[in-house]
Amino acid sequence: MLDASRIRARLPIGGLGLPLHVLQTVGSTNDYAARLARRGAPHGTLVAADEQTAGRGRRGRRWHTPAGSGLALSLVLRPGEVSQFAPGAWNTVGALAVAEALRGLGGEASVKWPNDVLLGGQKVSGVLAEAVWRGEALEYLILGIGVNVLPGSVPPRAELEFPATSVEAEIGRPVDRHELLARIVGELAALAPKTAGDDWRRAVEERLAYRGQWVHVVEESGDVRGRILGIASDGRLVLDTGQGEPRRVGAGAATVRLIDSAPQ
Ligand code: BTN
Repeated sequence: MLDASRIRARLPIGGLGLPLHVLQTVGSTNDYAARLARRGAPHGTLVAADEQTAGRGRRGRRWHTPAGSGLALSLVLRPGEVSQFAPGAWNTVGALAVAEALRGLGGEASVKWPNDVLLGGQKVSGVLAEAVWRGEALEYLILGIGVNVLPGSVPPRAELEFPATSVEAEIGRPVDRHELLARIVGELAALAPKTAGDDWRRAVEERLAYRGQWVHVVEESGDVRGRILGIASDGRLVLDTGQGEPRRVGAGAATVRLIDSAPQ
């Protein structure tokens, strides 16, 4: 069970975390937070759940949060309080916040662009940023984060698109979910001001998985192979394809897979 008072005692951090809604079970914390935001919930509103029964991932995939073993949280972020820079890039900012929080616990976490966090080369966390617009203006952003904390939160192998593990399995000791949640919110609060400039991008590049290595990116408009150079200021992945200018790939429906070497 998640203990609301243990979470509340650590919040707010940098303007994030209140009002706080702690739920023992919910369909999806992103959907719950979006309902609150539609009714005017302020910037920083946090929804955390012990269990999700209809958790959602990118590209229409399911996200498992079985009771007692994972972490599912969603924040309402409003423009003015956070920069309106490419909302999709918040997927990567969220992943960086989780990676830094895990590093604070002793894990060598990295960001697998656009929205995953790896420990020991396997996925422990995913981020789902969902923007809602009024005309041309961003009305609010729901930043949803899921973490496999205990081994029981890792989905069955047959359901995995990419190898997954849990924080405890990689760090090798029990991890307090309340503490991890507070660390993630703290890292997000520290990163938010950096999104106004280029600092967030450089920070991501320091933690970027496969940087300098050859990858295969599958996106809506086709497949691209290239060596990862870094991240552009709009959040796109910058690749050296070996054919002229570096290529920028949008997060859209992109997935990244490591390959052995440059294509012949
Ligand atoms: C992915 O890896 O595809 C992203 C997974 C995002 C899961 C989190 S859990 C909290 C929030 N609520 C959801 O329904 N999804 C996000």
